[in-house]
Amino acid sequence: MADVKIWLNGSMVDAEAARLPHLTHTFHYGLGAFEGIRAYEQKPGHGAVFRLQDHVARLLASCHLVTLDRGLAFTAAEIADACIETLQANGLSAGYLRPVVYIADGAMGIGATKNPIHVMVAAWKWGAYLGEEGLRQGIRACISTFTRPGHHSTMSKGKLTGQYINSILAKREAVSNGYDEAILLNEQGHITEATGENIFMIKDGVLITPPLYMNILAGITRATLLDVARDLKIPVAERPFARDELYMADEVFLCGTAAEVTPVREIDRRTIGIGARGPLTTQLQAAFFDIVYGRRSGYDRWLTPFEMTAARDVRLAAV
Ligand SMILES: Cc1ncc(COP(=O)(O)O)c(C=O)c1O
Repeated sequence: MADVKIWLNGSMVDAEAARLPHLTHTFHYGLGAFEGIRAYEQKPGHGAVFRLQDHVARLLASCHLVTLDRGLAFTAAEIADACIETLQANGLSAGYLRPVVYIADGAMGIGATKNPIHVMVAAWKWGAYLGEEGLRQGIRACISTFTRPGHHSTMSKGKLTGQYINSILAKREAVSNGYDEAILLNEQGHITEATGENIFMIKDGVLITPPLYMNILAGITRATLLDVARDLKIPVAERPFARDELYMADEVFLCGTAAEVTPVREIDRRTIGIGARGPLTTQLQAAFFDIVYGRRSGYDRWLTPFEMTAARDVRLAAV
């Protein structure tokens, strides 16, 4: 943590000095909203944040879903600026951003509504979430014994802190059973998504992914790849499917800000397609990396560029 800076409620502060009070409401009960955003280095000293406005809009939508927006003192533009400032303050031209909106300390009852709403932005270097080899060769996944909670139980369109217990349970179970990642079904047995990624399969040249009316997060990488596929004239379908179709797919991949575009070569000890990164996955993955690194024209609208000016001379506020 040495020398790490975070943006907290409008000021850049030393992360070590700005420890969270132990009676922070979100820490106890898990109602908070967050985002995961990546910045990619475009050339030395110059970075670009991928789909920054879309991520901040989803953060505010997550807050709105659970009424955390009442008492939120920052606008979308201010939070977007905070993301860039946090990268600069930490000397990161590439990295992962983690804005969190949380209920601060005050009253401790579950129903407390008057505690202050705080906003924090952290940034760190993060390599390939499911491994460099995973990006090239594909990963091994399993269908989880845990189910994605249904519409009556959670707000799957919100990226909300406490909801990730379900993901953590599924991930821990998968890894302890020797898999890299877990894929979760819904209560009807349809494929939803992985623990922190949306899922796509390819069958007979069609790119297929579960529709947004199901209990899945509206992933920004998912939306990106659907747009890119349409631009590349790859047929797409958003429809429900169960595990049998997934086992018989020609290709499967997971996508998300952290995992980017990661092929799946095996599910529940069944080889998927050729058992390696397939041709359409390769094409979409290459297009994705070309876009985020600014190498593909026509997609600049998704990149928010920034420079590493005076990165280390940032003046810290007292906490
Ligand atoms: C449960 C879940 N699904 C899907 C995604 C992918 O979303 P995005 O592409 O916006 O990062 C994430 C990551 O944010 C996630 O946590």
